[in-house]
Amino acid sequence: MDFKLTEEQIMIRDAARDFAQTELLPGVIERDEKQEFPKEQIKKMGELGFLGMMVSPEYGGGGMDAVSYVLAMEEISKVDASASVVMSVNNSLVCWGIETFGTEEQKQKYLTKLATGEIIGAFCLSEPEAGSDATSQKTTAFDQGDHYLLNGTKNWITNGSTAEVYIVIAQTDVEKGHKGINALIIEKGMEGFEIGPKENKLGIRGSDTHSLMFTDVKVPKENRIGEDGFGFKFAMKTLSGGRIGIASQALGIASGAYELALQYSKERKAFGKPICEHQSLAFKLADMKTRIEAARHLCMKAAWDKDVHENYDLSGAMAKLYAAETAMWVTTEAVQIHGGYGFVKEYHVERLMRDAKITQIYEGTSEIQKIVISRSVLRD
Ligand code: CAA
Repeated sequence: MDFKLTEEQIMIRDAARDFAQTELLPGVIERDEKQEFPKEQIKKMGELGFLGMMVSPEYGGGGMDAVSYVLAMEEISKVDASASVVMSVNNSLVCWGIETFGTEEQKQKYLTKLATGEIIGAFCLSEPEAGSDATSQKTTAFDQGDHYLLNGTKNWITNGSTAEVYIVIAQTDVEKGHKGINALIIEKGMEGFEIGPKENKLGIRGSDTHSLMFTDVKVPKENRIGEDGFGFKFAMKTLSGGRIGIASQALGIASGAYELALQYSKERKAFGKPICEHQSLAFKLADMKTRIEAARHLCMKAAWDKDVHENYDLSGAMAKLYAAETAMWVTTEAVQIHGGYGFVKEYHVERLMRDAKITQIYEGTSEIQKIVISRSVLRD
């Protein structure tokens, strides 16, 4: 077993760290406050190859492994989780989904632009009444011969207004249940496609989250991904990889908060010495460090499984569950270590605490991860 990173992986991690510190850190507090999408920064991330890291160079991607992706996601998320969610959705859900299951025509038309960040994508599964229970899709796309007629509403869609390309999961044959679901590629501007107002969120406030409404949208048959009825499995397989991205986002949020708390605890003095020298606080730092390292190992294991073509449904779910719980716990403790300073915006930890919460919710709540994990345990 070799835990050593390759030179290339170290280079990618350092490039992401450098980008996060120089390009994302300035203005991150203001973007959070104003709910402002990091437009310029995302453009640069595309130019640097962060939006299509694992896509084959043939389609304009970086051809990198999932371990490198985890490393980059951690560094970006330490500073700006609103930017890293855009990166995660574009890489793991949209690019991966089209590259793995799309037709050559779809790859040429969409993937080449998505991988370079010329455009970004969105993944639309959740509905007002179908978030965790993903088989209960109410959005319909009935077969009309040469096209599907799409009707319905999707909720909480990341990149909702900034995306140009949307993968929409819809029921095409109600009788067949989850076997009658398809994944369709929708373009912004298609007639009958409307974008609802921006959600006012607790965390990741710089990212744009919207409802989407579809009324008699004509979707050409060639925009379906995979065989007829493959949509639910497509969504599940895609989300399995997506969970590695969100796990590494949670890892980054946790390690960002930990680094700030460690630094602060060395500088802040109380009762005649730096607060880190009080054992109650030193032990807290030890617990934070240990949990973060455990989360990192789970993320790396899931990424490695993906790289060596092992099944990563279980390892990805475990990484997501543990890293998200760690992010919530570590960020809350980081605020506590900062005391009153932790409660104000300029010290960053309160934002990281708010951002941590969504990692326990999206791409499957912690409870959903436990369903995936326990089913696997009981099957073995
Ligand atoms: N890979 C391939 N196939 C899979 C699979 C996987 N990972 N998981 C399930 N399937 C298949 C099953 O084998 C089954 O197929 P068969 O009938 O042919 O055997 C079929 O899918 C149905 O599976 P289940 O019976 O297990 O389905 P279920 O209704 O019990 O649900 C679930 C399973 C794991 C709970 C699933 O519904 C789920 O993951 N829900 C959460 C959805 C989610 O993550 N939503 C987040 C929205 S996306 C988002 O947040 C993006 C963003 O903007 C950041």
